[in-house]
Amino acid sequence: MSAGTIIFTGANSSLAIPAVKHFLTNYPDHYAILTIRDPDTPSPHTDKLRAVIAPFQDRVSIRAADLSNLASVRSLTSAITAEIKAGSLPPLTSIICNAYYWNLNVAAELTVDGFEKTFQVNHLAHAILVQQLLESFGRAQDDSHTYCGRIVLFGSDTIFPGQSPLEKYPPLLPEDLQQLAKPTPETDGDHAGHGFQRYSLAKLAIVTWMYALNDHLQKPENSHLRKITTVAINPGNLTDSRALQTNTPFMIRNMSRFLIGPLRPLFSLMDPTMRTAASAGTDVVTLALDQRFEGVKGYFTLLKEDMGPPDSLDKTKQDALWKKTVEWSST
Ligand SMILES: NC(=O)c1ccc[n+]([C@@H]2O[C@H](COP(=O)([O-])OP(=O)(O)OC[C@H]3O[C@@H](n4cnc5c(N)ncnc54)[C@H](OP(=O)(O)O)[C@@H]3O)[C@@H](O)[C@H]2O)c1
Repeated sequence: MSAGTIIFTGANSSLAIPAVKHFLTNYPDHYAILTIRDPDTPSPHTDKLRAVIAPFQDRVSIRAADLSNLASVRSLTSAITAEIKAGSLPPLTSIICNAYYWNLNVAAELTVDGFEKTFQVNHLAHAILVQQLLESFGRAQDDSHTYCGRIVLFGSDTIFPGQSPLEKYPPLLPEDLQQLAKPTPETDGDHAGHGFQRYSLAKLAIVTWMYALNDHLQKPENSHLRKITTVAINPGNLTDSRALQTNTPFMIRNMSRFLIGPLRPLFSLMDPTMRTAASAGTDVVTLALDQRFEGVKGYFTLLKEDMGPPDSLDKTKQDALWKKTVEWSST
């Protein structure tokens, strides 16, 4: 019997593939549910993941979860809940919300659920996934009434205004939070600028929600959940990730291919957050499962405790985003 199950979304991502390898090699008593947007369509990334997990077939299962379709997310959470209840899957020890989406080449897109796609994939779908699985965590060893485990969400340095050279419009939570989920259409055709802001805002939303979730888990009426903690990690700038090659303008793709990639050793000497996806993947698994991090919560830059940007620390904004997320989740 495994010690527990982890869920890893976007399991064929640049960071996830080496992270899954590290996990399967170093946590032999654990089981992994690896979710992929579309496991049935041929993809070199999914092939790479399948090669990595081949020696560990008895401890992994690949599942479909398209985060731009909430029915797909709900179908996954219902299946996992039922399997854990039936005892055919060990209870959860960690949920790693790694998948992400951006598109810097087009105007804002709406999902089948009617939400802005970047926002839904990065924030709303992960919030729903987590909320629906809280009672599928395992019980604390010293208290059989209490669930325990760790949730890992993903931030980015782009949520701090003025941090990224690609930022044109600052990532600040709008007064009207509905603008995150259903933004007013852009009229100036600046797809790269607005697309990058949509990504940063969606990441800011999930980080702000992380603080609200940690508060929620400590409320007296949720005392059975108080040993579940949530962190958000900025994994660093991953110089060998396919992220800058996906849905980005030609200029960014070239910059990534001919400048950032080849000069990574030099960049990482100057800035330790410039690193490989494999090194980030190891840290993510460590943060999710290592006993050294038991009970930690809050924002992390790599494996160092840090603070999110001012908007994410604003309690009024945390509460407002929490309420809106509940509202969006129930549509
Ligand atoms: N790369 C960086 O420099 C960097 C910097 C800061 C933070 N991060 C964060 O680190 C995490 C991992 O990044 P990465 O570089 O490994 O990303 P990546 O290699 O670009 O992969 C993105 C992943 O998200 C999945 N995805 C996209 N749309 C989806 C959808 N609708 N439903 C489900 N999955 C979907 C992709 O699957 P398909 O390919 O099948 O669509 C893929 O597995 C992300 O949360 C990212 O925001 C990355």
